[in-house]
Amino acid sequence: MKILIVNGPNLDRLGKREVNIYGNMTLEEINNKISNHFKGKVEIDFFQSNEEGAIINTIAKAEEHYQAIVINPAAYSHYSIAILDSIRGVDIPVIEVHLSNIYSREQYRKNSVTAEGAIGVISGFGWQSYILAIEFLISKY
Ligand code: DQA
Repeated sequence: MKILIVNGPNLDRLGKREVNIYGNMTLEEINNKISNHFKGKVEIDFFQSNEEGAIINTIAKAEEHYQAIVINPAAYSHYSIAILDSIRGVDIPVIEVHLSNIYSREQYRKNSVTAEGAIGVISGFGWQSYILAIEFLISKY
């Protein structure tokens, strides 16, 4: 099984950005943790962009090479119908993850429009949100 992890805007600044909320690990450190955790079990590739169009293009092409997507659309979660449409447009399962618990934060973060296209959402477990999503994909697909 091959899984693509897609990370949205500002997640390239993890480790520096709002560490009280997102922790002090960089995205590279998180990606290494995920790769090591699943070594020999599943192939995982990583993509990050601060640009909506690049995320949409990546989701659209993913079904040619991957059996599932784990996405943290970051702030786009709360308003990008374009990313929702791209998630709905692919025939592979998509799980949405968030490092923080978006339901315990500001009102404008409590709703995720992109989550409407996902099979489910894992929110609030820090970098382990990604691990939980992948564990589910392995067990189910
Ligand atoms: C986030 C939550 C979003 O509200 C925020 O804009 C992010 C990160 C999370 O992983 O907790 O950039 O998606």
